[in-house]
Amino acid sequence: MKQTIILLGPPGSGKGTQGEKLSEQFGYVRLSTGDMLREAVRNETSLGLKAKNYMAGGALVPNDLIINLMKEKISSLAQGTGVIFDGFPRTVEQADALGEQIDVDLALNLDVGDEELVNRLTLRRSCPQCNSVYHLLYNPPKKNNFCDKCGSTLYHRDDDKEETVRNRLKVYRDKTLPLTEYYRKAGKLCTIEGVGSIDEIFDQVKKAVG
Ligand code: AP5
Repeated sequence: MKQTIILLGPPGSGKGTQGEKLSEQFGYVRLSTGDMLREAVRNETSLGLKAKNYMAGGALVPNDLIINLMKEKISSLAQGTGVIFDGFPRTVEQADALGEQIDVDLALNLDVGDEELVNRLTLRRSCPQCNSVYHLLYNPPKKNNFCDKCGSTLYHRDDDKEETVRNRLKVYRDKTLPLTEYYRKAGKLCTIEGVGSIDEIFDQVKKAVG
């Protein structure tokens, strides 16, 4: 199986959902910059205070903050650990920094159209404790408003309001979409149509990773 995997794809394309399944079934360490940043904001750390306003508006957090954060995380991985990067890199500068530290085996790009993404995100509910995600229609929790895995009360992310989602999609096109070409040229890109049931998509993800 591929050892170092990047999950590309726009906001709401299913990176967290598929990354979590890969991690549960195959033991990958999943490094999600979004989860790390939200935790930093909740704990009001120095990183969180710097990142908060960028995130609230759907803008990217500055490269230097993210690159420093991820350098530290990557250095602490034991040799040979299978790792999934979810939400990183998001700019060419971040991709260059990652490439200096680790060899990427696969950049898996989930392709989903804008209106489906808006629908997914405006009806997403997230767990603040274990970071599991649900969708009120497509993937509802067993007990309304509570996380199946840890029982915490679910919440609607501030940046999942429609106006902010549309800005995140614009930022994605401007800053992150060029990475598909970056990894295509490097022979690392695999694009999967991200529409269908979560399990159908996971079948394709497993084929790409295996
Ligand atoms: P981040 O948390 O990384 O957000 P994102 O990339 O916008 O991705 P999402 O978490 O919104 O979506 P996802 O693709 O994981 O989809 P999910 O599986 O949840 O980043 C947040 C912010 O942090 C950024 O805006 C930025 O400010 C900052 N940031 C983070 N990383 C950064 C970086 N590297 N550089 C700079 N700034 C950074 O699924 C979405 C919904 O759809 C769920 O409800 C799910 O249940 C549902 N769903 C999933 N799959 C399906 C399916 N097949 N069918 C139907 N519904 C589905």
